[in-house]
Amino acid sequence: MITLPSKAAEIILKGEIVAVPTETVYGLAADVFNIQAVQNTFNAKGRPADNPLIVHISNMDQLKKIAINLPHNAFALALAFWPGPLTLVLHKHKNVPDIVTGGLSTVAVRMPDHPLTLEMIQLSGPVTAPSANRSGSPSPTRAEHVKKDYNNSLPILDGGISRIGIESTVLDLTVEHPLILRPGAITAEIIKDKTGIIVTDFEKSYSESRTKSPGMRYTHYKPEASVEWLNSESKKNDPDSYYILHSDLTNQSAPNYFHYNGDFESMARDLYDHFRTADHLSYRNIKIEPLPDLNINPLLPALMDRISKAIGS
Ligand code: TXA
Ligand code: MG
Repeated sequence: MITLPSKAAEIILKGEIVAVPTETVYGLAADVFNIQAVQNTFNAKGRPADNPLIVHISNMDQLKKIAINLPHNAFALALAFWPGPLTLVLHKHKNVPDIVTGGLSTVAVRMPDHPLTLEMIQLSGPVTAPSANRSGSPSPTRAEHVKKDYNNSLPILDGGISRIGIESTVLDLTVEHPLILRPGAITAEIIKDKTGIIVTDFEKSYSESRTKSPGMRYTHYKPEASVEWLNSESKKNDPDSYYILHSDLTNQSAPNYFHYNGDFESMARDLYDHFRTADHLSYRNIKIEPLPDLNINPLLPALMDRISKAIGS
């Protein structure tokens, strides 16, 4: 484990990879301009070469080295939401190696909201950072998760628990009508309220995003335990089940019950940790209380997306 951003930057500048904290999930960072280092992140994760990476920057000058022909709304969005959980898909600068974008002419960029990682990038320059899980695991939200996935073989900059817990919103700005390819903490409604910019929401763009965002084509993490929505028959306490509840539907209190009482921020922050814990403790099922109307909290569409993928529907 590393605690100093300067040490992590040194590793990046040597052409090696290091796991870094962000406000969403931990990422596996490499120098964006070092083809071998970027290749090593694909290898370490076991990630298909045609699933492009997100470039992480710490200031707006770096953006000019990564993307070209920036539309006006890119600046407005960066001003409103960076550093933060919004990834913008832009036209790629020719100096960004093709391996970063899986051969696409577009590049995904964001400025993460974590003081240690921002400080590292100030010293190292822009880095690619896919979520730091090995394929087959959910995105890591704690340094311990990364340590376990890689048998303690990687340097990790320890930045505590990721505040948001699910991956950033991915917004494509290279098309005539901007559209959300992956839902995250920043929704179309939040974007409209804060900037006046209208973007097509994830649900409406779902069929299009499946083909446009290469990551959407791949099968997603499913815990060993079967994930299912809690239904009326399954309400009773089953010692083989791990329960995640957002209302006070049942006031069972037992070590296998997790109540959120409408606190969806905490539920999102803990979701992947619950998946990992349930598997670690060999639970057979993870039962999640069906979510309420997705309009009542901005995190609900993203939670719905990640839970549906874990269920496999
Ligand atoms: O919150 C996050 O975004 C985290 C942290 C570490 O920043 N990163 C992350 O990276 O989730 P990754 O590699 O696990 O997911 C990147 C997503 C994938 O679905 C990928 O297909 C999409 O972004 N993506 C990357 N470049 C793209 C591009 N040029 N066009 C469309 N989609 C792109
Ligand atoms: Mg990922």
